This record gives sequence, C-alpha cells and structure tokens, in this order.
Amino acid sequence: MHVSSLSLSLTALALVSPCTAHPQSRLAQPILQKASDTQARADAVKEAFSHAWDGYYQYAFPHDELHPVSDGYGDSRNGWGASAVDALSTAVIMRNATIVNQILDHVAKIDYSKTDSTVSLFETTIRYLGGMLSGYDLLNGPASDLVEESSKVDVLLTQSKSLGDVLKFAFDTPSGVPYNNLNITSGGNDGAKTNGLAVTGSLALEWTRLSDLTGDTTYAKLSQKAESYLLNPQPKSSEPFPGLVGSNIDIATGKFTDAQVSWNGGDDSYYEYLIKMYVYDPERFGLYKDRWVAAAQSTIQHLASHPSTRPDLTFLASYNNGNLQLSSQHLTCFDGGSFLLGGTVLNRTDFINFGLDLVNGCHDTYNSTLTGIGPETFSWDPNSIPSSQQALFDSAGFYITSGAYILRPEVIESFYYAWRVTGDETYREWIWSAFSSVNKYCRTGSGFAGLTNVNAADGGSRYDNQESFLFAEVLKYSYMAFAGDAEWQVQKGSGNKFVFNTEAHPMRVST
Ligand SMILES: *[C@@H]1O[C@H](CO)[C@@H](O)[C@H](O)[C@H]1NC(C)=O
Ligand SMILES: *[C@@H]1O[C@H](CO)[C@@H](O)[C@H](O)[C@H]1NC(C)=O
Ligand SMILES: *[C@@H]1O[C@H](CO)[C@@H](O)[C@H](O)[C@H]1NC(C)=O
Ligand SMILES: *[C@@H]1O[C@H](CO)[C@@H](O)[C@H](O)[C@H]1NC(C)=O
Repeated sequence: MHVSSLSLSLTALALVSPCTAHPQSRLAQPILQKASDTQARADAVKEAFSHAWDGYYQYAFPHDELHPVSDGYGDSRNGWGASAVDALSTAVIMRNATIVNQILDHVAKIDYSKTDSTVSLFETTIRYLGGMLSGYDLLNGPASDLVEESSKVDVLLTQSKSLGDVLKFAFDTPSGVPYNNLNITSGGNDGAKTNGLAVTGSLALEWTRLSDLTGDTTYAKLSQKAESYLLNPQPKSSEPFPGLVGSNIDIATGKFTDAQVSWNGGDDSYYEYLIKMYVYDPERFGLYKDRWVAAAQSTIQHLASHPSTRPDLTFLASYNNGNLQLSSQHLTCFDGGSFLLGGTVLNRTDFINFGLDLVNGCHDTYNSTLTGIGPETFSWDPNSIPSSQQALFDSAGFYITSGAYILRPEVIESFYYAWRVTGDETYREWIWSAFSSVNKYCRTGSGFAGLTNVNAADGGSRYDNQESFLFAEVLKYSYMAFAGDAEWQVQKGSGNKFVFNTEAHPMRVST
C-alpha cells in the first residue's frame, strides 16, 4: 500500500552480492524459541526496533534511510529524514521517550520548502504528513507523559501545516485531481495526463485530519474534491462492477481513462481509505462507506479466486474487459485487514469471514516458502507455470513471479486485524513466525535488508536498502499484537478511537 507502482519500488534498489553469513535451514525457526510468553515477544520486537534505530541513527540520520549492508544512507524521500518521521508513532507506542525526543528535535529542523528531488504527493502525505499528525494525536492524548514540553509536540502540527501549504498547489488543476509528481521549487509537475487511483484516493484521511486539527478547511476540501471523481466515476463503463473502478483518472477532466480493476499496488489504498474515512467520521463519510460496501460485495462475487490445486485457498484476481488475471502481490495482502475492519465496524459476518479467507491465503504465501516470508508477486494461472515451480503450485496453490521481499508489512498487518477482531491466538502465532523470519533472514549488523528470493534457503541476496516502512509498519503491527490493549489499538466493533493511515500511523477519529 505504499508504492504506487511495483516496478518503481524494485528498480530503485541496489543489489548486493549473495549473502553467505546466514545459516541455511529448511524451515524458518523463530529466533527466540524460548520467548513463549507475550511480554517476551513484545520485548523482542522492541529490541529489533532499537537495533534498526541505532543503526539508522549512527550511519544515516538525518537522511531518509539506512543502507543496511554497506552502512551508508539514501535520500529517496526528498532528504527530510523519512525514517525518523516514519518511526515516530512506533517509538511513541513502544514508549521510548529517548527516541521520541530525538525525532521531535529533528522534525523542528526540517525545511519542507526545500529539496532537490521530485516530490511524490502520495508518499509525502502518507509518510511525513501522516507520521507527524499521528505523533501529534498520540502525544497530545494517550502518550502525553512521554514529552515534557508541550511546545515540542505543537511543532508537529505547525510543521504539518507548513508541509500542507508547500504541497497544496498540486491540486491546482482544471478538475482538482492532483498531479502526483511535483517540483516544489518551481511549482511545477511532471506533465502527466493522468493520476493513479491509489495516489489520488489515499489523501483524504491525512488532509482532512490536518484541517480538523488546524481549523483551516482548505486541505480537507482539496482532497475531498479530488476524491469526488472516484466516488462518482465517469464514464459509467469505468465501473464494470458496482464499487469496483478503473485505475487511472484524467487530470484535466476527472474522468477515468480505463476500467482495469484490482486491489493491487496502484489501486489498493483507494479501497482501504473508503472504509477508514467512515471509521474516522461516520457522519461526514457515509458515501465513502457505501462505496466500500459495494466494492466489497462485488469483490466477493467477481474477484475471489481459488487455485485449481488448492481450492481451499482464496486470492483476489484482477479484472479487465471480461478477463480475469490470476495473479496477486504482497501489497494486495492488506485486503484481509480491510474486510476485517469493515466487517467488524459494520457488523457484517460475511465480510469478516471473507477477510479471514484472504488472511489465510496470504498466510499460505508465507508458510510455503523456505524463509517463511512471502513473495513480492505470485500467480495461480495454471496455463503459465514455470516447470521449476510445478511442485510449489501443486502443494501451495501458487507460484512465484517475483521472489523479492523488501520489508513490506501487509501480511503482518492483516494478521494483526485478524487477531484484534477474532481474538484467535492462531493469528498471533502467525505474526510471531513472520516477525521471527524477518528478524532471522533480513537482519544485518546495522538494521534490516530486503531479500531477493524468499524461496531460497538463505533468502538469496540482500538489497542494500531499509525502507522507512520497516519502522512505521512491520515493527509496529508486530509489536501491537503482543502489547497490552490501548486506546490506539484496533477495536472489535464500532468503538475505534484511532484509525491507521496506509503507512500505519494511527490518527484520532473525529470527535
Ligand atoms: C530506547 O531506545 C534506545 C535506542 O535504541 C535504547 O538504547 C533504549 O534501551 C530504549 N529505551 C527503552 C525504555 O526501551
Ligand atoms: C525544479 O525546478 C527548478 C527551477 O526551474 C529547477 O532548477 C530544478 O532542477 C527542478 N527540480 C527537479 C527535481 O526537477
Ligand atoms: C450484529 O448483527 C447480529 C445479526 O447479524 C445481531 O444479532 C447483533 O445484535 C449485531 N450486533 C451489534 C453490536 O449490533
Ligand atoms: C505452515 O502452517 C502450518 C499450520 O499453521 C504449520 O503446521 C506448518 O509447520 C507451517 N509450515 C511452515 C513451513 O512454516
């Protein structure tokens, strides 16, 4: 849910030579097998967070991210310290005042009006704006004891407003559908004719929260105007099934330019935010909920797909002009969590059960590989199986089309929703297994690195990059499963006090 295009995310990474430091083993055994009780597991996740923070702080801070193999750094997110801002809400939830104060001191120094790079409206919104607003809501509320001077917390909101003011020109188009790729120095853009579904439709939560906290309605209006074209899609042909819409929107007219339907990267968080906006404020966002319900029902009816070799499993296919494509992605695995959230909030057992089916399918992609971590992309189309993967398809119901793992959170995220909504310990065990595999295979001397092949005994080679969402998401969802109940945790039923943006930053719901 964090990268609008899959190819972008993978090509940006430098490959390093195969890693031989990691012992080979048939099954991924939890690194802390004795950590049988919940507290020990929560502590193990905290330790992983501290390991990653210490490495980032030593070798990369205040740059955007650590290069965890070479102990270098990168600035892929405009050089404003993406990992620090993305780590804030997790450090708060883990109650590490030292790290929280280090990050607050950094945020006060960021100049959001300056960068040499192209700025992604979407990535900047979900990581920086979401990270700061979440920190503000947590430190002004249930975690206020972590910071002594309230002025340090107030900076989070003034900096959020500064960032919103830098970015808002993106919406200055004939339709109000924004450009995504911006030159904030010149006020320019990349000249794109269309914008994507997810990047257009995953702004309203953060921009509405910014308006609600500052009292300046500008930001909410801009994001909701853009969203209005997605909620009322034109032409009619761009909505082949009720609620399921195309992938690209004409920036000049607000009309969809295609009718390709999926829950994959590029489309994903549009559907995610429909129900989350309703959780944020059921009064204002009833239409968003209606659109999510329509999409969810159509998804069960038209996109649910069962591999021929494993009819017990459920994956989501994508659809274009009468054809189903039997392939999916790690990114798509947020889907179970979305059905579980909508199902519990709306009291719809059918959505909860379908969500658990999706969670089970994504678990199978983890459970069936040699590392215990699932692949970036996979397929179950029986007509194009590589012969080397026939055995995997026969037993696991899918085959791998990209075996990379770049520290993505979506599978653990959906396990977390399953745990919170059902209370079934199975899902916490799955989180522990997944976290343990990441800790075992991805851990380096200074942090965590991606893997090139989750189905090689040692995970293949390492990518020398540690995405900021390792801090924001993987370690937060893992930790929260083993931490005590708290106001920010996802609640069963309709009593949520916080709602998580697509980068896992919890924001207080509208009051
Ligand atoms: C907070 O994080 C620092 C840096 O990783 C670590 O050394 C310290 O033990 C942590 N403190 C707590 C209370 O967890
Ligand atoms: C943004 O525009 C300025 C002024 O025209 C130019 O100097 C700079 O190179 C541009 N930045 C990017 C990332 O294209
Ligand atoms: C949820 O729906 C069921 C019927 O499907 C009903 O019996 C139950 O009371 C509802 N719960 C709430 C909290 O509304
Ligand atoms: C897969 O999951 C099943 C059931 O949860 C478990 O018994 C089995 O050991 C797992 N296999 C691997 C390879 O993790």
